[in-house]
Amino acid sequence: MLRERREAAIGVFDSGLGGLTVAAAIAEALPDEELLYLGDTARVPYGTRSPATVVRYARNNVAFLRERGVKLVVVACNTVSAHALGGLADGGDTPVIGVIRPGARAALAASRGGPVAVLGTPGTVRSRAYEYAIHEIDPDRAVHAIACPLFVPLAEEGWSEHAVTTMVAREYLAPLAGTGVDTIILGCTHYPLLAGAIRAVAHEVLGPEVAIVDSATAVAAEVARFLDSTGSRRLAGPGARRFYVTDAPDRVGEVAGRFWSAASQGIEHVDVKVT
Ligand code: DGL
Repeated sequence: MLRERREAAIGVFDSGLGGLTVAAAIAEALPDEELLYLGDTARVPYGTRSPATVVRYARNNVAFLRERGVKLVVVACNTVSAHALGGLADGGDTPVIGVIRPGARAALAASRGGPVAVLGTPGTVRSRAYEYAIHEIDPDRAVHAIACPLFVPLAEEGWSEHAVTTMVAREYLAPLAGTGVDTIILGCTHYPLLAGAIRAVAHEVLGPEVAIVDSATAVAAEVARFLDSTGSRRLAGPGARRFYVTDAPDRVGEVAGRFWSAASQGIEHVDVKVT
């Protein structure tokens, strides 16, 4: 029973540090909950890998979090949510929540009824997961999906407002001209760091009314709803936060701090069992 495990932590994982944007939103919405974050920095990026590899990596990460007794796993990675979500809950009693459905719902809520664009990794775009999630709600909605692989290293480098980021965004968003897109989903956990540059270019291409949506807040709301509906909210806080990475390169604290300042200290290097 989930209710009996309510004092346990929420496990959040990503291919790297980008998922900290989702963890931060969960911490803000649910400050009493304990959070355990795992970034698979040894194997990032996932966005350019085959679905079979992403599924295997994701299973290893879920096993790590389950061993630590988390009550819920949040997949704070669009690529994993796109390829592996269905299979991750198999064979265990730990529920799993992904980012794609909440992101799709948030986009449709923000849209004025026009076409929606999704920016994501090549893997997420190839999977068409956002398109399917949007069409579950609105089968006739036009969806334009664009792979933006260069955004991930730009976010890690901290080039949020850099001229190079603007140039790259112009290149990626150019095909949206004339489409009438009124909402853009930042379908990758790294992209919220570049939201300023992406928004400015989106205004150039699509006009000032275009909405930019990221799934972090929507996922946090989904987690809150889930805990309430299962009676498994932690009773008293504040909850502790622990940060694990599978590789700790020199600037790991600095880069983590860009995604969520709380994560810049106390990151622990762990080995995840690889299968
Ligand atoms: N976290 C990944 C995502 O949201 C982006 C980084 C990667 O390619 O692993 O899709």
